[in-house]
Amino acid sequence: MLDELIAPGVIRKLFAWENELLAAHFLRLDPESRRCRFAAGVSDETIAAYAATALGADAIVHGFFVDDVLRGAAELRLLPEGEGEVAVTVEEDWRLSGVGSALFGRLLLTARNRGIGNLVMTCLPANRGMQRLAARFDGKITFASGDSMAAVTAPPATPISLWREMWSDGSAVAAGLIDRQMRLVGAKRRRRPRPIEA
Ligand SMILES: CC(C)(COP(=O)(O)OP(=O)(O)OC[C@H]1O[C@@H](n2cnc3c(N)ncnc32)[C@H](O)[C@@H]1OP(=O)(O)O)[C@@H](O)C(=O)NCCC(=O)NCCS
Repeated sequence: MLDELIAPGVIRKLFAWENELLAAHFLRLDPESRRCRFAAGVSDETIAAYAATALGADAIVHGFFVDDVLRGAAELRLLPEGEGEVAVTVEEDWRLSGVGSALFGRLLLTARNRGIGNLVMTCLPANRGMQRLAARFDGKITFASGDSMAAVTAPPATPISLWREMWSDGSAVAAGLIDRQMRLVGAKRRRRPRPIEA
């Protein structure tokens, strides 16, 4: 499955109050990635203002977490007429290891389960990374007359796709808990006093 995560970390949906995590993730992007994501060179203030309202009721955002830090995000914004707007970002050190694909796969699954077949995204025609990524999902990305907007399609929902989303959400909670406990255990091990040498 293309939405399966092979990199170490956890993918889960963001909660409405996690705006600051999203803002911090965007602010860590290098200038070129910022331009690719927002199709323009945007200021820190613009990013902070965008992130402050990005997790409203019209949005479903999946996040990729490493040690509780958000390192990647796949945003689905619900538009009128059953359409959606999408965007994917992965911080540089976590790229090229399938994180973007895993996030995009979760996003498409979420969209199809809500009956959103037509998705648009801001994607510069020179953005090879995003185009290769979309090509993994049967090349469902097309540009309108060389514009920076690309269209992506999602297939209709099935009982299996609904079940897969529920399973992903449930396993993300379990994976997050296990991840936290593993780090606690690791921290305790590191803190354990060394035996006194004779
Ligand atoms: C686009 C982006 C999300 C890809 O994330 P990623 O985690 O590297 O993606 P993956 O590891 O899943 O790679 C998917 C495919 O794209 C290819 N790819 C990724 N970045 C690439 C690049 N810069 N140039 C060419 N191919 C690239 C990978 O090799 C892989 O190809 P494969 O299917 O042949 O193996 C990431 O580069 C990014 O955040 N870019 C800046 C923001 C952006 O442009 N977002 C898209 C517009 S909203």
